[in-house]
Amino acid sequence: MKLQKYLTMEKLEEVVISLLKPERVKHVLGCRDTAVALAKCWGADETDAARAGILHDITKAIDGPLQLTLCEAYGKILSDFSRKYPKTLHALTGSLVAERIFGENENVVSAICHHTTGRADMTMLEKIIYIADYVERERSGITARRGDENVVNAWGVTKSWPIGTPGAFPVQPVRLSAGKRK
Ligand SMILES: [Fe+2]
Ligand SMILES: [Fe+2]
Repeated sequence: MKLQKYLTMEKLEEVVISLLKPERVKHVLGCRDTAVALAKCWGADETDAARAGILHDITKAIDGPLQLTLCEAYGKILSDFSRKYPKTLHALTGSLVAERIFGENENVVSAICHHTTGRADMTMLEKIIYIADYVERERSGITARRGDENVVNAWGVTKSWPIGTPGAFPVQPVRLSAGKRK
């Protein structure tokens, strides 16, 4: 059963919070808000940005064996690396759950799927979620950021953006890519 048509953002927030570890809730809400702000700056679909942002870590709380079970259930063939480190699968399993259970559209699903690794020729929404996951204001409160600032800088986000500073929020439009906008 797909839930999207029954779930307003308010309801979706309730469901998502119930599935996350408490320490991840602020990060996920921060990612959603940052994604919406970026979508506004860049003329992307704000609803897609909000839904991808709030759902991007939806399976983060489940353990490795269950990540593998989910992939099997959805017929995904995995690499040896993924089998050895199944916690790295949360982007893939999150995208599967977003699609199959929450009924999200393909833009939202692909943004969730690529939010940890990125990929060549990313769509605007994929870039927005990738960046929002890094720079949302609460991230520094949960874990060290993935990678380092060089990755963010490579995307053209300037250092004037107070990355990871609790309470800080981007007020300037940022350059998401040196390449063409998609
Ligand atoms: Fe994630
Ligand atoms: Fe995240």
